[in-house]
Amino acid sequence: MRHRVSPPFQRGLNSPASFEGARTMLTIDNVNLHYGAAQALRGVSLSADMGKITCVLGRNGVGKSSLLRAVTGQHPTSGGSITFQGETLDGLAPYRRAKLGVGYVPQGREIFPLLTVKENLETGFAPLPARDRNIPDDIFSLFPVLQSMLSRRGGDLSGGQQQQLAIGRAMVTRPKILVLDEPTEGIQPSIIKDIGRAIRYLRDSTGMAILLVEQYLDFCRELADQVYIMDRGEIVHEGPAETLDTPEARRHLTV
Ligand SMILES: Nc1ncnc2c1ncn2[C@@H]1O[C@H](COP(=O)(O)OP(=O)(O)OP(=O)(O)O)[C@@H](O)[C@H]1O
Ligand SMILES: [Mg+2]
Repeated sequence: MRHRVSPPFQRGLNSPASFEGARTMLTIDNVNLHYGAAQALRGVSLSADMGKITCVLGRNGVGKSSLLRAVTGQHPTSGGSITFQGETLDGLAPYRRAKLGVGYVPQGREIFPLLTVKENLETGFAPLPARDRNIPDDIFSLFPVLQSMLSRRGGDLSGGQQQQLAIGRAMVTRPKILVLDEPTEGIQPSIIKDIGRAIRYLRDSTGMAILLVEQYLDFCRELADQVYIMDRGEIVHEGPAETLDTPEARRHLTV
């Protein structure tokens, strides 16, 4: 099924028709990040292209979420630089990055349990100018359950529905890059499929860049264009999705 793309999604983006080859959207260069004296990122470099899904894999505690916190401004970096569409993000507050087009789906979803589904989606209006403060139809084509539950409280949704809501909320902000932290964690297979379809749709229909952190290898293998593997705060492998099946890549993923 092909979904209609509402015009706001194409604001500032190359439509697929004019889309010629990969273009770098986000460049992370030699980034360090500390929690007190503990170093969680060590000279991490990575790039994410328009119209591509870039997947970051790695075991528990290797620094995947820290990397996304560095990109979204949730935690300051202590070295290196992050550039988004040619502009530096270094030192910018999270809301400024959201305004520039960095959409974030945090690990554990972090929806507002006491707000309704509609109100949760509307929290995505914050970085938008008044004229763009509407909920794109695509969200409901991709996740029909959200439409049928608009007046239900977020906290009363199942984990899978909350994950769809978290992705929907990020879509409301009309991101140019969507950053997702383990969207399949604790989610049943049928909803994982819907989430995979949504991510692919966003890549293919809008030219959005997707930066996806995952531990679910098959999900990554199916979706990813480019993969990175992290271990102990460092990038230890980089390549096209096919390279995930090399013994060298596997070595970094097995527990
Ligand atoms: N707020 C914090 N304060 C101190 N240390 C932290 C903090 N957050 C993370 N860490 C540590 O930093 C390291 C990287 O954590 P991070 O959450 O980035 O890992 P991860 O790869 O996302 O793990 P998981 O797959 O379990 O989500 C870990 O050793 C973790 O204990
Ligand atoms: Mg994490």
